[in-house]
Amino acid sequence: MWKVILSCLLIFIQDASTKGLPSFIKLCHRNDPNLLKCIVENLEIIRPKMKNGIPELFIPPMNPLVIPQATLNSGANFKATFKDILMYHADEFKLEDFTVDLNNYHIEIKMMFPELRIKSDYNIKGRLLVLNLDGKGPADGNYTNVQCYVALKGNPFNKKGKEYVRWEKEKIDINIGKINLIFERLFGDNTALNDQTNRVINQNIDGIIEELEPVIQEVVSNFVFNLINRLFAKYSISELFPST
Ligand SMILES: *[C@@H]1O[C@H](CO)[C@@H](O)[C@H](O)[C@H]1NC(C)=O
Repeated sequence: MWKVILSCLLIFIQDASTKGLPSFIKLCHRNDPNLLKCIVENLEIIRPKMKNGIPELFIPPMNPLVIPQATLNSGANFKATFKDILMYHADEFKLEDFTVDLNNYHIEIKMMFPELRIKSDYNIKGRLLVLNLDGKGPADGNYTNVQCYVALKGNPFNKKGKEYVRWEKEKIDINIGKINLIFERLFGDNTALNDQTNRVINQNIDGIIEELEPVIQEVVSNFVFNLINRLFAKYSISELFPST
């Protein structure tokens, strides 16, 4: 008998300590008229921790943010694979807008990254605008004023009597102010051709981004939605946004 009570207690204690948001989070109530302010306050609380990651919230180390691999596949004529991607300054984003409508399971987020630097090992093969590319090597890129808008649509589901939400992409829009890219060794040891091709790439970067936009959006949203859905699968809606 005591054994049963004891193990029930233990389960209860374990539950209490593993469930619920980490104690450094300030709870935001879903009907708070100043919900955005509350969320921004939380953002500033967790921002210093983002650099090294926050496992309880599924936030990976953010400076640098390590992405093992990403592939841009555009039709049969172009394929670019990026490995060992290191993204710097991703934790320095500003939250420009955040609207949550939990009654209709709708969220809109507008973020701005003043500066991003992405290094990787690239492997590019195919035709891009006027360029015929077939090369691999280290790549480096600086991106200024990257604006990211995401609209999410939620599908509620029940787990152990609590309501959870799974989010899917409704709209994603990425705008980049300025880009400077360097692909080293695009043509091996032919430095003159390497330099010239990098110049052409940077001069035509707007067109290239436009061409690759759907795949870039796909890569970014897969990453973002993976994080969001892990968070929302762990915490029920009333744990994340209590109603009173
Ligand atoms: C990116 O910015 C850093 C720091 O300012 C600089 O050292 C690097 O050369 C830049 N890379 C490119 C591709 O512009």
